[in-house]
Amino acid sequence: MTEDRKIDLRSDTVTRPTPEMRRAMADAEVGDDVFLEDPTVTRLEEVAAETFQTEGALFVPTGTMGNQIAVNVQTEPGEEAIVETRSHILNYELGALSALSGVVPRPVAAEGAILDAKDVEAAIRPDIYYLPRTGLICLENTHNMAGGKIFPSEKMEPIFDLARERGIPVHLDGARIFNAAAATGESVAELSSRADSVMFCLSKGLGAPVGSLILGDANFITAARTVRKRFGGGMRQVGVLAAAGLVALTGMPDRLPEDHESARAIAERIADSSTIDIDPTTVQTNIVIFGVNQNGWDAPKLTLALEEKGVLAVPLDRTYIRLVTHYDVSRADCLFAADLILKFMKNKS
Ligand SMILES: Cc1ncc(COP(=O)(O)O)c(C=O)c1O
Repeated sequence: MTEDRKIDLRSDTVTRPTPEMRRAMADAEVGDDVFLEDPTVTRLEEVAAETFQTEGALFVPTGTMGNQIAVNVQTEPGEEAIVETRSHILNYELGALSALSGVVPRPVAAEGAILDAKDVEAAIRPDIYYLPRTGLICLENTHNMAGGKIFPSEKMEPIFDLARERGIPVHLDGARIFNAAAATGESVAELSSRADSVMFCLSKGLGAPVGSLILGDANFITAARTVRKRFGGGMRQVGVLAAAGLVALTGMPDRLPEDHESARAIAERIADSSTIDIDPTTVQTNIVIFGVNQNGWDAPKLTLALEEKGVLAVPLDRTYIRLVTHYDVSRADCLFAADLILKFMKNKS
């Protein structure tokens, strides 16, 4: 590590565009996408729809906007959306379900943050005129706050069966669905084929500077385009961003296993210390969450100490710290960070 370079493990959103992305951005053919005239955006949407085997796709500025467009299109004000207690859509989107769509979140707790069909079933409102209607079920794969945990297909299937039976649409927050695919060997199309809408991010593990896509059938995409404009997400010569997104979507998924191996390597190394709470076998993708509360250390204190040595992390609360591996950190960077954590934790704070 050089003096001025930080090892930034706060998130996989911190990556800078690769040289190939920058070249593609400079060379991008563009037009006004609100008039449906940007060929690079159209190409990105076609490639995304082919990849997920959906009728259509829509480029949106952020994952949050993508999730919230999907909620808005598929619900009515006053309905409930079933969400997992620690999900991004509930905790980190500033109450947008209610603020933008008049939807009441119905949080359901789940063992290890992976929803169980029978708990979802118990949360679905009976069809009685004086009760709110359950308008949507939201799932997250991989689950950010559960440490990049994969939602296993065999746990998702009964939820899709139930949703179909009750006529309730399912939205899949697949911000990191490519990480789930890389880890399980299933394709993103297989992982999402039964969802009514899917959102995935180009700007996380895939390394693009900006952008997400939402996917669904043709009617969903038509409605989503209108809502995107209403939410202020109609963009003009945005092919410059879609060009980087195309490089991300076509070139980056294959390298995600490297990030997963780096995350596992960090976890295995720090698990050697009895002062650190982590089970490395639970690290399935590119997120490592570990606990510290011994030798006078807590999460904010350790995060500050690491930052002084050029390693950036996110404290989640007093005990837990999150590290996320990505394209801009090497295996050596990750092991350097792990050794630094071990060194601090060996001594009193
Ligand atoms: C699971 C999940 N969904 C949605 C988002 C929102 O993405 P954005 O930051 O692009 O709004 C994030 C961002 O971290 C996320 O982790």
